[in-house]
Amino acid sequence: MSANIIDGKAISAAVKEQVRDEIARDKLTVGLAVVIVGDDPASRVYVNNKKKACEFCGIKSYEYALPAETTQEELLELVDTLNADKNVNGILVQLPLPKHLDEKAVIERISPNKDVDAFHESNVGRIMIGNYSFLPCTPAGCMELIHSTGVEVAGKECVVIGRSNIVGKPMAMLLLHENGTVTVCHSKTHDLAEVCRRADILVAAVGRPNFVTADMVKPGAVVIDVGINRLDNGKLCGDVKFDEVSEVAGWITPVPGGVGPMTIAMLMRNTVTAARIQK
Ligand code: GUN
Repeated sequence: MSANIIDGKAISAAVKEQVRDEIARDKLTVGLAVVIVGDDPASRVYVNNKKKACEFCGIKSYEYALPAETTQEELLELVDTLNADKNVNGILVQLPLPKHLDEKAVIERISPNKDVDAFHESNVGRIMIGNYSFLPCTPAGCMELIHSTGVEVAGKECVVIGRSNIVGKPMAMLLLHENGTVTVCHSKTHDLAEVCRRADILVAAVGRPNFVTADMVKPGAVVIDVGINRLDNGKLCGDVKFDEVSEVAGWITPVPGGVGPMTIAMLMRNTVTAARIQK
């Protein structure tokens, strides 16, 4: 193996310690409401990890576990209550929601200054123009991982595979803010491998196991794997074929232990920011 492994676990632990120290030093009272609807097992794991991180940082977490049959009106009513609750600085509604619920309407109901996911359209718009309080957690975590390599983004060829609202699009924007030359690839991209091979920084957010192979990677590139795919054998696997890509890349994130823990650490950071904005 030639690539350096980017240790998301260690870097996320450092961010959480920083958040914990900041809360203690400034004697902040910080609360995060986490809403989960239904019993999706992956969502349950994520929510438990978010609660654990809150506990570590000294953030009070309030869990609202609602049954799968919850109606749109009931969910919106809860969001209204949390918007008005002074103990709640951040509101996170775990996605995906059950099919009968309108995710977009729920997100838009969250008060933008409690929207610690940065999913609300006013926060998304603020990211576009570079005037933001919150960065979306996963792209912000990816940026931290890229910074940890010491590789400068400015002037580099950056390729993002995937154009979701949660990861691909905001990721492209953050790389652009740091003066990367950014290309966003998707299912209609011609000669994807060729485009990816140009990348000094390659971010894979496709949601398909082992999608990125060694022939798609420029020697020495920084490879960030956002994928968390569960295989039939129960094992977690990224979007990047780690064994072969790590022979070519200069830097690579593992799955698990790469981007995943960073998302939660950045959520902690956003929650403190939310508390400061509201004070
Ligand atoms: N589901 C998967 N990732 C996320 C996330 O970052 N935030 C929320 N709210 N739901 C998710």
